[in-house]
Amino acid sequence: MPAIPKAQAPALVQFYNWVFHPLAFMETHYRQMGDRFLARGTLMDWIFLSHPDDLKYVLTHDGQELSAPGEYNKILTNLLGHNSLMLLSGAQHRQRRQLVMPPFHGERLKVYGELIRTITREAIAGLAPGQAFKAREMTQRISMQIILQAVFGLRQGERCQRLGKLLAQRLDLSSGPLGSALIFLPLLRRDWGAWSPGHQLKALAQQIDDLIFSEIQACRANPDPDRSDILSLLLAARDAEGHGLSDQELRDELMTLLVAGHETTATAIAWSLYWVHHMPEVGARLRQELETAGSLDPVALTRLPYLSAVCNETLRIYPVGMLTFPRRVEQPITLQGYDYNPGDVLVGAIYLLHRRPDLYPEPDQFRPQRFLDRQYGPFEFMPFGAGARRCVGAALAMYEMTIVLATLLQEYDLSLASDRPVQPQRRGITLSMKGGVDMVYRGKHPLPELVAEV
Ligand code: HEM
Repeated sequence: MPAIPKAQAPALVQFYNWVFHPLAFMETHYRQMGDRFLARGTLMDWIFLSHPDDLKYVLTHDGQELSAPGEYNKILTNLLGHNSLMLLSGAQHRQRRQLVMPPFHGERLKVYGELIRTITREAIAGLAPGQAFKAREMTQRISMQIILQAVFGLRQGERCQRLGKLLAQRLDLSSGPLGSALIFLPLLRRDWGAWSPGHQLKALAQQIDDLIFSEIQACRANPDPDRSDILSLLLAARDAEGHGLSDQELRDELMTLLVAGHETTATAIAWSLYWVHHMPEVGARLRQELETAGSLDPVALTRLPYLSAVCNETLRIYPVGMLTFPRRVEQPITLQGYDYNPGDVLVGAIYLLHRRPDLYPEPDQFRPQRFLDRQYGPFEFMPFGAGARRCVGAALAMYEMTIVLATLLQEYDLSLASDRPVQPQRRGITLSMKGGVDMVYRGKHPLPELVAEV
């Protein structure tokens, strides 16, 4: 039986490369060792998997053979708290998922359609023709407003504005390569005095917590059965013994949804804006589809084939979530001739999967057409992971991406500030971009031109 190939560089070098150059780290090891390799992810060894058959097995056997322990996500405790969905395991994790999933799916999701459009228009309304702006900052404002509404039912008001601003500041602190090191190295997060990042983190965290706790108290004091936001639903939830969630549990869950629910989506939408403007043929074909479709209600937008191909290709080429959360082997298993033993930690390398030339010919080319030519299975294309920890916000994220991109293209004329390609860069545990995509607002969009297939 062959042994799983192992990265040879010293552990510290591997750790450094994973934090500062995650894509090169994965690509290099993939080139040297193939579909499975053992390397130092954070502070432990992980087996990176990128073959669709391996991923299918590992992500569909959560239970006896494999588990998805929350303790492996403990680097997030500082930001999200011990009671976050991402840190729970087993039955407790399953129950909490059932509680938070429904508001992000099906009929409930539709409620957000017009709201997303309105928020998008408001976000661009302050710009004058010729004005430069950073796409990532604008999309972050949009996704923040949407998630605040979904989580708290908060749209306007001082508390909402402050919370949005403080959260953005908190997350900006852990963006960029150095900021990302804050997540992985607990020592850096200590309060070493007024000018240390640890001190700023603590002060911001305190202000954010104060706001969230006062929102929880206000909602507890005035329960309203007509409210359908997540805070109201979580407050009403009871376990088998009739106990509700404590304030601290509520705070951790709300924080999880606020953070996971807007950072990732903001990056994905900013990338989509970049690609449709960086590749004028793609932009023109998409505008043509939107023009032909006319004025559609938001749900109908999700059925436009090229629009969804553009969103999918955006999430394929630089997946915002580079990896699935780790899985632990509980009982010996053999996959494609390789043995995995209890205690082994496996991660799905979404980025490597999405770059496989056997699935995606010329994988570094942005080509939405591939999603029209072929139907990809759930273990061939998986920007939202799969199995026990599949993203709870996947449907909301796709909905948001589709509506924001369509609204901006249909109604406004935007352009990139330069032709230079935008490079990916780690932002905390996600994959974002360097510089945030510099764009220029030009006013209302002119009529689209007819174009050939791209
Ligand atoms: C484009 C946007 C997004 C991307 C690419 C993304 C990606 C992911 C990925 C890859 C995972 C790990 C899945 C796994 O281990 O199998 C995940 C988990 C998660 N996502 Fe998302 N996500 C996005 C948007 C959202 C939104 C909008 C929300 C909330 C409203 C959200 C909430 C979560 C939560 C709570 C988890 C943890 C689930 C668990 O531990 O059970 N995400 N996401």
